[in-house]
Amino acid sequence: MPVERGTEIAPAKGKLGVLLVGLGAVSTTFIAGVEAIRKGLAEPIGSLTQMGTIRLGKRTENRVPKIKDFVPLASLDDLVFGAWDIFPDSAYEAALHAGVLEKELLAQLKAPLQRIKPMKAVFDQAYVKRLSGTNVKEGNNKLDLANQLIEEIAEFKRRNRCDRLVMVWAASTEVFLKPHATHKTLKSFEQAMRDDHKSIAPSMIYAYAALKSGVPFANGAPNLTVDIPALVQLAEDNNVPVCGKDFKTGQTLMKTILAPGLKSRMLGLHGWYSTNILGNRDGEVLDDPESFKTKEESKLSVLEYILQPEVYPQLYKDFSHVVRINYYPPRGDNKEGWDNIDIFGWLGYPMQIKIDFLCRDSILAAPIVLDLALFLDLAQRVGMRGVQEWLSFYFKSPQTAPDLYPEHDIFIQLMKLKNTLRHLRGEDLITHLGLEYYD
Ligand SMILES: NC(=O)c1ccc[n+]([C@@H]2O[C@H](COP(=O)([O-])OP(=O)(O)OC[C@H]3O[C@@H](n4cnc5c(N)ncnc54)[C@H](O)[C@@H]3O)[C@@H](O)[C@H]2O)c1
Repeated sequence: MPVERGTEIAPAKGKLGVLLVGLGAVSTTFIAGVEAIRKGLAEPIGSLTQMGTIRLGKRTENRVPKIKDFVPLASLDDLVFGAWDIFPDSAYEAALHAGVLEKELLAQLKAPLQRIKPMKAVFDQAYVKRLSGTNVKEGNNKLDLANQLIEEIAEFKRRNRCDRLVMVWAASTEVFLKPHATHKTLKSFEQAMRDDHKSIAPSMIYAYAALKSGVPFANGAPNLTVDIPALVQLAEDNNVPVCGKDFKTGQTLMKTILAPGLKSRMLGLHGWYSTNILGNRDGEVLDDPESFKTKEESKLSVLEYILQPEVYPQLYKDFSHVVRINYYPPRGDNKEGWDNIDIFGWLGYPMQIKIDFLCRDSILAAPIVLDLALFLDLAQRVGMRGVQEWLSFYFKSPQTAPDLYPEHDIFIQLMKLKNTLRHLRGEDLITHLGLEYYD
């Protein structure tokens, strides 16, 4: 049942626990950022929930509240963090290792970061070939591991006196998995967990544990994870919102900003070549061809959907799209992404666009983690369950209802997100028609 317009929204009272799977570059940059903002050391740049506004009614009405004043979101002061990782380092040590934030800033945040020690992970090297660690759970089978997570989630909630929880997967990208028969129903999924079947990846075990515990789940990596019928059904049955996949940062962010613009002017595309150099642990994991395949699928899909070659064959039929990621340690988290875009205009005359984006992956990803945590919590308080397509704004491969193609155009995604918020608060949706101003 879709949520009704102007529905009752439970207030965001008490503490919200944010459970992070993976305490690496993204997670520590997110936690340290929230701590720095709480202390007044920095601004929440890049976060729509903290800085974004929403226009209500007509342009002449001058009603433009901040999103966080328009819908009841958890306050940054009410967030509590927990994490799992295969390495035992505290959030402070992990942040130093990730090398995203300056040591001087981290030194000021040392006390709260040091208190966050990762719980033992559910991990199997068969799914992330380039990593091995010691902080890993033992269990009789995958269902047993899931039950251990469920106990830990409940214990975390009790110990930290949380009112509500959300879980975000910010752990390494797993090897490419195809949907399997075991993913079809909850029964077959649970049996496969008992049988230690290889179609059940660790990320699915976390997602299952979250959904069983009534905890909303967001998937920041391109892994299949919660994008399978068994877990979507479990989310719906347990009234839990879910979303994914793969945070939209860096090169794909640029692609989904630019491609809609080129298409809007009916400019054609011969090819789009994208390459990256990246030196963090994510880059190292993606150096494994099987993990890269998962990422590649996610990065490649966006142009096809935005440009619709079947609708515009003269412009977009057979364009060539290549994506490369090269592991290059000296750059650390400071990725460099190049795009060479071969376009054509009037009478078929060719032109080129070159982009050199010296970006910082985790700086772009951290505000996404924050927004997803707050919006998923809002969705749960509103009574929204199952796949949250309105959050596709944040993802490279947005999860949608079966047989529905995803919207990749970032401007459509943003309109969908804001219209969802207007709908929840009983405000008119904005169509941008605007004829009434000229009557
Ligand atoms: N930074 C970005 O812009 C961005 C964008 C899209 C997606 N992502 C994805 O987000 C994820 C995190 O990125 P990152 O840069 O923080 O990587 P990272 O390597 O710094 O951190 C990932 C952490 O996950 C841990 N881990 C791996 N498997 C685990 C498991 N089963 N349980 C618990 N912990 C586990 C690793 O030990 C590591 O500390 C990656 O999958 C990445 O592809 C990042």
